[in-house]
Formats: sequence, C-alpha cells, structure tokens
Amino acid sequence: MYEAALVLHNLVRWLVLAFGLWAAFRPEARPGAFFAHTLTLQVVLGLLLAFLSPLFQGALANLEVAMQTPGEARYFVAEHWVGGLVALGLAHAGLSQARRAKPRARIFFALALALLILSIPWFRPLLRL
Ligand code: HEM
Repeated sequence: MYEAALVLHNLVRWLVLAFGLWAAFRPEARPGAFFAHTLTLQVVLGLLLAFLSPLFQGALANLEVAMQTPGEARYFVAEHWVGGLVALGLAHAGLSQARRAKPRARIFFALALALLILSIPWFRPLLRL
C-alpha cells in the first residue's frame, strides 16, 4: 500500500505540472479544472503517504530530534506539504476566477505552479514504476 501510494504520488506530480502549465498559458475553466482537481488528488495521496510512510511516521515519533537534524525527515515533516497546500488554495482560487473569465486567473495559476516547482523533492527519483 505504501509502495503503491509512493509510485502514484511520484507519477501524478507530472500530470499536475503539465496541467499547471496548460492552465497558466490558457487560464480558462477547462485547463483550470484539470489543474485544480489533479492537484487535489495529489494532496490526498500526499496525506495518505504521510500516514503510511515510515520516514514521515518515524520523524513524527521523534519530532524534536527530526526538527533539529537537517535532512529528508525534517524536509517532509516541516516543509514539503506546506507548499503543496498553499498551491492547492491558489489553484482553486484561479479556477474560480477562470470560471468567471477574470484575467487574474492566470496569476493564481502561475503562482501555484511556481510554488509547486519549489516544493517538489527533486532529489527523489524522477520516475518510479
Ligand atoms: C499536503 C500535501 C502533501 C503531502 C502531505 C505530501 C507528503 C509526502 C510524503 C510524506 C512524501 C515522502 C514519502 C516517503 O518517502 O516515505 C512525499 C514525497 C513526494 N511528494 Fe509529496 N506531499 C504533498 C504534496 C505534494 C505535491 C503537491 C507534489 C507535487 C505536485 C508532491 C510531490 C512529491 C514527490 C515527487 C515526492 C517524491 C516521491 C518519490 O520519492 O518517488 N507532493 N510527499
């Protein structure tokens, strides 16, 4: 179950990035909906992973040590998910603007995409199959 969630979370990242690019270039309701909803799925997978991941659970069990030690455990417990959640809010704000054909939809989508690019753990495998 953990392996399956990790593989899916890894792969869905590429869908999120592709739809994010599409929404930023064409800030309309259809691309925006693909972006916001795939990102929602990714966040749900991430939350599931947080419960299943030995790395995440190990860090939670010893939070003080994890927070004092720079490395993967601190990164996943304290940083990675924050960017994902803020990007989720921005993508949905963009979708609501795009549905009303407001020009500021593009700014929301572009900010969400930029934040995602910064929040992705690029030191991990680019593909997991
Ligand atoms: C609330 C939001 C999120 C949570 C709680 C979360 C949680 C996690 C956790 C716990 C891991 C590490 C699991 C492990 O190695 O045991 C992980 C890895 C990862 N996350 Fe997230 N995540 C979230 C959002 C996102 C988003 C929005 C993206 C990209 C669009 C993303 C992309 C990745 C990638 C690429 C990995 C590495 C997977 C691998 O090693 O194959 N995550 N995430």
